Amino acid sequence: MASDSVTILGIESSCDDTSAAVIRDGILLSNVIASQSVHEEYGGVVPELASRAHQQNIVPVVDAAIRRAGICKEDLSAIAFTRGPGLLGSLLVGTSFAKGMSLGLRIPIIDVNHLHGHVLSHFVRRKADDRVPEFPFLCLLISGGNSQIILVRAYNDMEILGRTIDDAAGEAFDKCAKTMGLPYPGGPHIDRLAAEGDARAFRFARPHIPGLDYSFSGLKTSFLYTLRDAIRLDADFVEKNKADLAASLQATIIDILLDKLAKAVDLTCVNTVAIGGGVSANSGIRTAVAEFCERRGLTAFIPERAFTTDNAAMVAMAGYFKYLDRDFCAYDEVPYARTSI
Ligand code: KG4
Repeated sequence: MASDSVTILGIESSCDDTSAAVIRDGILLSNVIASQSVHEEYGGVVPELASRAHQQNIVPVVDAAIRRAGICKEDLSAIAFTRGPGLLGSLLVGTSFAKGMSLGLRIPIIDVNHLHGHVLSHFVRRKADDRVPEFPFLCLLISGGNSQIILVRAYNDMEILGRTIDDAAGEAFDKCAKTMGLPYPGGPHIDRLAAEGDARAFRFARPHIPGLDYSFSGLKTSFLYTLRDAIRLDADFVEKNKADLAASLQATIIDILLDKLAKAVDLTCVNTVAIGGGVSANSGIRTAVAEFCERRGLTAFIPERAFTTDNAAMVAMAGYFKYLDRDFCAYDEVPYARTSI
């Protein structure tokens, strides 16, 4: 290894995925993710169970990331960890592990804002000539907890131009899916069903919120009332119409997302648009954003599906940028459950 190489171990444990990744000089060497199936029967993430599963997973996951990267732990320059936002108990596992390991190796720790990680996942390269966005760009960050339009001026200079005033896009997918009797998380099920349905079959409420903010609670209510009224007349309504319902719901969410994204592009005049977060795995959204960018002559950055969910590659990437600035974290810093960009 060249002595001036920078090798970062990233650790992500903000919710229900335990992940570790190694990045050397901006190139991804490994990215290991252990998802927790224990929550499936509860219809959502149970915080206490998540913390316990992280504790079981963290050592084998970090060990696998180091081995798959073909390095030994003494090659590491620093350890980056997700400090927040997320579930406090889950974050504590990754934070404590990073602190302990870095003390043992006598290398610095770097705290990473999970939301920055999602935005910066677009800079993770598998090979040197992979393309990355140029600053400034807009990032539509859509997940189970966030729906934001972010103006990214530099890796450490981000401004939220719009955010949801109630539910996030992922919640709209998941809660409407639950109303249809689909398992949690419902987003991927809606995605799959939507591919076979007619997006114009049903019409649901669209919000009228000024500026660049989002709202999804009206859509959720409108979806619920549509189903409630229809089931009164036909108990098998959902079963008979599930593909059309999914397609119409997904199309409405896409319309809502793209409407504000288009306004943000007009306002900022940037020519690059990226998407990120769990909901950016949605096939319809990926196609719609790509087509929107093509129509408007913009460059689109659609992440690999592996980088849409919580992953440590994005944490290592954000940590790499901070390492270059010698922006390290003190040992008495603690995780935070809530924060903004
Ligand atoms: O970023 P993420 O992994 O974590 C949280 O912020 O919680 O996002 C999870 C969200 C869930 O709401 C899930 O339903 C949604 O991402 N999601 C999808 C798809 N895959 C995951 N939503 C729509 N289509 C998908 N293919």
